[in-house]
Amino acid sequence: MLQKITLPKASVLTSPNPVSLACTLRGDGETNLATVSRWTYLSYNPPMIAYAMAKTSYSGERVRADGRVVLTVPGEEIAAAVMSCGSTTGRNTDKAKKFGIRLEELPGCPIRIPAKSRVAIVCRLADFYEAGDHYLYICNAEEVYGDADLRALFAWDGDHRRNGKRQIDGRLPHPSL
Ligand SMILES: Cc1cc2nc3c(=O)[nH]c(=O)nc-3n(C[C@H](O)[C@H](O)[C@H](O)COP(=O)(O)O)c2cc1C
Repeated sequence: MLQKITLPKASVLTSPNPVSLACTLRGDGETNLATVSRWTYLSYNPPMIAYAMAKTSYSGERVRADGRVVLTVPGEEIAAAVMSCGSTTGRNTDKAKKFGIRLEELPGCPIRIPAKSRVAIVCRLADFYEAGDHYLYICNAEEVYGDADLRALFAWDGDHRRNGKRQIDGRLPHPSL
């Protein structure tokens, strides 16, 4: 029977959710990495995606200043580092260095991305909107890369704020979901 629930609880019921890393250019030219599960495809023609980040995030500040972001779907072997990138701000920390994430270059792109990414979407910010305590970033996807041999990460416990029960790994969704 349907019961009244909260939106975070709904995000648990709709798990697993995709997990990505928003890669932006830090002020010093290095790459900042932030974990983002609130992202979606918007349009295939032209190719567009969107993601939401807390107003306070350093990544948001950087994409609003620079207009560029690469959204990657990390492979499961860097799951622990992806969790660390989701609980530390890059404002005064080089997360790639601190968490031992090897970065690699994409052709013609100043933002480096984690090696072992299953997908990388090179984006240009088109617009952003206030959405409660987040901003919604609308982006044009300029280039898209994929490696089907790597397993993607999923967030299994819904909303990322639920303490103690966060879990991300490469399990595939149950067929009955
Ligand atoms: C699995 C997971 C998913 C997350 N998804 C989001 C998200 O969609 N939007 C968001 O604003 N923060 C999300 N976070 C939290 C941010 O990654 C976190 O606030 C990070 O410290 C921001 O880094 P920054 O200040 O360098 O941008 C998530 C964290 C985890 C662990």
